[in-house]
Amino acid sequence: GKYRVVSTKSMPGTRWINLLIEQDCRVEICTQKKTILSVEDIIALIGDKCDGVIGQLTEDWGETLFAALSRAGGKAFSNMAVGYNNVDVNAANKHGVAVGNTPGVLTETTAELAASLSLAAARRIVEADQFMRAGLYDGWLPHLFVGNLLKGQTVGVIGAGRIGSAYARMMLLKKTFEIADHMLIYSPFFFITAYGAFLKANGEQPVTWRRAASMDEISLHPILDKTTYHLINKESLATMKKEAILINCSRGPVVDEVALVEHLKQNPMFRVGLDVFEDEPYMKPGLADMKNAVVVPHIASASKWTREGMATLAALNVLGKIKGYPVWGDPNRVEPFLNENAPPPA
Ligand code: GLV
Ligand code: GLV
Repeated sequence: GKYRVVSTKSMPGTRWINLLIEQDCRVEICTQKKTILSVEDIIALIGDKCDGVIGQLTEDWGETLFAALSRAGGKAFSNMAVGYNNVDVNAANKHGVAVGNTPGVLTETTAELAASLSLAAARRIVEADQFMRAGLYDGWLPHLFVGNLLKGQTVGVIGAGRIGSAYARMMLLKKTFEIADHMLIYSPFFFITAYGAFLKANGEQPVTWRRAASMDEISLHPILDKTTYHLINKESLATMKKEAILINCSRGPVVDEVALVEHLKQNPMFRVGLDVFEDEPYMKPGLADMKNAVVVPHIASASKWTREGMATLAALNVLGKIKGYPVWGDPNRVEPFLNENAPPPA
């Protein structure tokens, strides 16, 4: 191969590797055992010559790494993720490195996890499972694991992009799966997205995020940037219903996790379903003890089809830039408009 492409992790499937090999690339996959690579680890991986890198959301892609990649002749970087808060896009641009992400293929998979967490939280599935395994079930009781009925409740979706909109659609499937009767949606881009138009055509109204946060159930799907950091904090939690359900499948820092733990302690009927955490892989002290929290390890996009698709898209992003042909999406443009034009939440 003429070009050297590095992947910081082994990724599902073989299609992404074959695509690169067929197009003159030598693929090198990091074999380090540790889960999270440091900046130094990645500099060593980049070495003296590297045309492109496929990286992960656990890595800090800032000035140092883009400078190193550029010195090695690299022109392309793709995150294997739709979120790219771990990437300093300006630093990449400064060093002439194009940045790509992997939207689209993970939309439905992520929305399905949010829906799963909604039901698990409402019906206390995990708590009940632990109770069974602990051998505590000694007969049916009228009060045993009484939870929330979602039918007839109103769901607020904060961040109605691709994923939030798919979640809204799932929760609105009235014929087969009658859950929530009404959906309130906040997105700064509501009117400019096809999803926004679709939802509006179906009678769903855009609202302020504060109003969405006052519903029976709230699901968070915004990107993480300075306008959404700690959007859910002590103050906004205090405005929520005491028996609300809060789901987060976006990024941990959208929620002030310390304030959330305190809120869960004070309000035993308030329930959360969390896929992401402020200091991954850690949970804030006390969260693991809360029975009213369902927690899973950032697995929202973890279906086989989606993960293979993400790997393929990441490879195409890098390949497209190296070979100079147009590919799905535009690796020069990691949806930058999302960051630049986002109005601060009202
Ligand atoms: C996962 O969190 C992603 O952003 O793809
Ligand atoms: C519960 O199992 C019922 O029969 O109501």
